Amino acid sequence: MIVRSPGRLRATLRVPPDKSISHRALILNGIAEGEARVENLLDSDDVRSTAACMAALGVEIDWPVGSTEARIRGGGLHGLYESEDALDCGNSGTTMRLLTGLLAAHPLFSVLTGDDSLRRRPMGRIIEPLRLMGARISARRGDTLAPIAIRGGNLRAIQYEMPVASAQVKSGLLLAGLSVEGRTRITEPVPTRNHTEKMLAAMGAPVAREGRAVTIRRPGRLQPLGMRVPGDISSAAPWLVLAACHPDAELIIEGVGINPTRTGLLDVLGRMGAGVELHEERETSGEPVADLVVRSSTLTGVTVQGSEIPRAIDELPLVALLGCFAHGTTVVREAEELLVKESNRIDTVVTMLSAMGASIEATADGFVVEGPSQLRGARVDAAGDHRMGMLGAVAGALASGQTRVENDAVSVSYPDFWQALEAAAPEAAQTA
Ligand code: S3P
Repeated sequence: MIVRSPGRLRATLRVPPDKSISHRALILNGIAEGEARVENLLDSDDVRSTAACMAALGVEIDWPVGSTEARIRGGGLHGLYESEDALDCGNSGTTMRLLTGLLAAHPLFSVLTGDDSLRRRPMGRIIEPLRLMGARISARRGDTLAPIAIRGGNLRAIQYEMPVASAQVKSGLLLAGLSVEGRTRITEPVPTRNHTEKMLAAMGAPVAREGRAVTIRRPGRLQPLGMRVPGDISSAAPWLVLAACHPDAELIIEGVGINPTRTGLLDVLGRMGAGVELHEERETSGEPVADLVVRSSTLTGVTVQGSEIPRAIDELPLVALLGCFAHGTTVVREAEELLVKESNRIDTVVTMLSAMGASIEATADGFVVEGPSQLRGARVDAAGDHRMGMLGAVAGALASGQTRVENDAVSVSYPDFWQALEAAAPEAAQTA
């Protein structure tokens, strides 16, 4: 795609449904007893991977192509069947890590695999604690990389301190904990997104938060959870950053989930000088939702670290772009998790923004940006990483000249992204 800067930006938009909640709606309802109707389910490559895996495990899923409404008929906590073939998680780390936990607890033989990117991402972080629970799991490269082979069943409860803050690992262990006798207790170094806990509680599972720990006991059954999925704040993020950095912008983004475990970027924007207004705060299926209003702002550099990192994990590359428009230094640190996302996001962000004239340097656990600098259009490679594709688009829409974004992969989480950019700024996006 070719992107240019729009002179003026005024639009009201809706972003796609939340990806994390969409995955969980399919997986959790897949082991509930009965039928659930899920509205506003994200129809993207990643979530389709989860649906295909659950269907291969015998869950009845009625989700027509192009639809955002699905019916899921779960067969209960013991209702999964052995898949006839390897389960293909595509590009989705959430699918692989959550299903590894789920299947470790089922008396089935399962193999999980994925695309080139997913087969390079660390799986030891979920395999190791599951082994402590007694799971029989092996994987490539010393049991660290997919494909993963699982001979599940007969787990015992553990108390586990997670060395890395990962909602995917926490969720995988909660899914395993659903099938074991006794209390499984998982402690996180810092809080991560809590959608799994909230949904499990709403489905009747005995799950509880105790400080930094979450505990779960085996429920008798899970009730189906009919729900409407809120808009994804991670998909709102490119628009928030575009408007904050653009000289003449006002964007309204409707129906965005603002669960506090996800709103790190709103806090960062506020500290930088771009207050995002929240309107019509309400609740949708247990998740807080609001309409967001963001305008052109004068930005100041900030440091992002500590407990803010997991709360903004997928938005950190966009913080680098904010840093290019902010006065002073912007630092992201303690974010080594960026090294093992869909691409090495420290490398990708530094390469992309440097090519556009940014003053940015990689560090071992993040990056440092000096601003402001005028970005200029360039040819950038998003490395097949959806978040980096959207970063390239937004950077191009803020740069002089034209930017060509290659390997954007936006269909992983935001299939209509380019159409949305064209609708918001007709002169900005064009197919190469
Ligand atoms: C996700 C958790 C995060 C996030 C990913 C989705 C989830 O990963 O980066 O895009 O749905 O649980 P980690 O928990 O591994 O950091």
